[in-house]
Amino acid sequence: MYSIVATQPGDISVLQKQEIELSEILPNQVLIKNQSIGVNFIDIYFRKGLYPWPQENNLVLGSEGAGTIEAVGTDVVNFRIGDRVAYAQPNNAYSTHRILDANFVVRIPDAISFDQAAAAMLKGLTVRYLLRDSFEVKPHHTVLFHAAAGGVGLIAGQWMRVIGAKAIGTAGNDDKCNLAKNHGYEETINYSNENFLDRVQEMTNQLGVDVVYDSVGKDTMFNSFKALKRHGTVVSFGQSSGAYTDLQMTDLAFGSFHLTRPTLFHFYANRNWLENASADLFELISSEKIILDQITKYPLEDVAQAHTDIENRKTTGSVILEI
Ligand SMILES: NC(=O)c1ccc[n+]([C@@H]2O[C@H](COP(=O)([O-])OP(=O)(O)OC[C@H]3O[C@@H](n4cnc5c(N)ncnc54)[C@H](OP(=O)(O)O)[C@@H]3O)[C@@H](O)[C@H]2O)c1
Repeated sequence: MYSIVATQPGDISVLQKQEIELSEILPNQVLIKNQSIGVNFIDIYFRKGLYPWPQENNLVLGSEGAGTIEAVGTDVVNFRIGDRVAYAQPNNAYSTHRILDANFVVRIPDAISFDQAAAAMLKGLTVRYLLRDSFEVKPHHTVLFHAAAGGVGLIAGQWMRVIGAKAIGTAGNDDKCNLAKNHGYEETINYSNENFLDRVQEMTNQLGVDVVYDSVGKDTMFNSFKALKRHGTVVSFGQSSGAYTDLQMTDLAFGSFHLTRPTLFHFYANRNWLENASADLFELISSEKIILDQITKYPLEDVAQAHTDIENRKTTGSVILEI
């Protein structure tokens, strides 16, 4: 039994393997033997100290995983030893085992593998709230989605295809643009060598889009607002290029714009939402409306390499760690 521990905020050298001993589980908790662990950009924000640590040092990163229940607390009635489950909860996932409140865990259908669950639980539920709860995307909407070939981006493209909306995706090179096109985006823009604002205006006959989903932040946010229709919405849900800090409240007055900055865990904390959203996600995966064909795997012990590749924009789709 071991974890990969970040000994302090910093670069990948802070990631160290450490043997662990399991503590006793509380009555409301379950013990999960992880089979597959998702890697997310949030892990990098935590590793670097961009997001505050719950303690001063020795933080086990990782917020997504899938595995088998090995023990259940005395008050847990809805899970049994041997159940195949998945979860998305901040930190403590880079580990052979994880103890979690049973309310944060859902059972995985037999048709879905551990790798698929670990590749889609956090990212897919994020897409569910982005497209349904933060702004409800309808078939008549035109959507601009940045980083379309990433983990969240490829699931979002396919989900928008199911909804029937017109999805425009941006990505950092032509191969990524092609990938995004094969995963639901009607149009793509290589924003490394094209001005995405000009291209969006062209594609929409100068009308702009109903909503922009922006997880890139510093490099894109200014033009994301400019790409909106009047009364349009920016959903800011990440900052892979760094935080955008120049927004003035009066900027929203240029088009009576809406802005929201949501986070998955606020939705996830509502058990009713979690059960409905994960059922929707698992149904779309089981019926192959969402195909998880871009999963890059690393051994858990090589998580530092996974971080390097994600930070250097080398990955597409989901990244998982296998034990
Ligand atoms: N708020 C929430 O609830 C929530 C939940 C999940 C994820 N997120 C956010 O959603 C985004 C996507 O997450 P993910 O895990 O699926 O990651 P990802 O999209 O697989 O990777 C991030 C992508 O951002 C793009 N990017 C643009 N500028 C970058 C830069 N300077 N450095 C690194 N990457 C850059 C890259 O794509 P290109 O090369 O194509 O530009 C890169 O592949 C992240 O910002 C994450 O924080 C938010």
